Amino acid sequence: MEPKVLATEERGKGPALVFVHGFPLSAAMWKEQVTGLPKHATCIGVDLRGHGMSEGLPTDGATIDLHADDLAATLDELGHDKIDLVALSMGGYVAFSFWRRHKDRVRSLILADTKAEADNDEAKAGRDATAALVRDQGMAPLWEKLKVGLLRDEPDPEVVAALEPIIMGCPAETAASDAIAMRDRADSTGDLASIDVPVTWIHGTQDKLMTLESAKASVEAIPNAKLVAIEDAGHMAPMEQPKHFNDAVLAHLEWVRG
Ligand code: MLT
Repeated sequence: MEPKVLATEERGKGPALVFVHGFPLSAAMWKEQVTGLPKHATCIGVDLRGHGMSEGLPTDGATIDLHADDLAATLDELGHDKIDLVALSMGGYVAFSFWRRHKDRVRSLILADTKAEADNDEAKAGRDATAALVRDQGMAPLWEKLKVGLLRDEPDPEVVAALEPIIMGCPAETAASDAIAMRDRADSTGDLASIDVPVTWIHGTQDKLMTLESAKASVEAIPNAKLVAIEDAGHMAPMEQPKHFNDAVLAHLEWVRG
């Protein structure tokens, strides 16, 4: 499958800081980062294929590797050779693939609320059920599940209100494609030791989908990595605690730039 140039929103100047969203979202989830950090970098929010303003979802869906190759093609088009890559959850799966396929373009990584492990059999069956659910009933029942799973207990109503149109705006076919792509993704645990760029791993302490313990184990396996735990945040730490998240990004950039 030929890679495709993706829709992006770009603000600021300086080294490229590229944001890749989770499931079933778009670059809109990074609003507080792309509007809050442009004094420090060229902030680029990317819509993966089929999400947000990026069209061209293949009829048989897009794999995680295809998303990674699309990202590389997009950076070629924008003229950015090396990037600091910020990626949340499914975006983290794309980041691990990008590392395997295009590592010479990665100056540093910020991984947020993601995991290196592949799905076990139970999780794979859950992906099939998710794909069937959205194909049969659209996004509304998935939104009902995700508004509990993605956010901390007693979520901020403003965050719920910001998240709903992003998820409800995702085409059901795209969400189904994401579910299958995540089911079939490679295990990245064996790659962690090879990641020889600075890594900051940011994780909400109330993430219900991916535990802080598994994040800690991954951070220990990466040669040059720091863990930042964000209190009062679930899986969507960049939206739930944008100031703390942005402070962690700034600390990372200071570390990388020396
Ligand atoms: C995401 O937020 O991207 C997803 O929850 C990731 C997953 O389900 O594995």
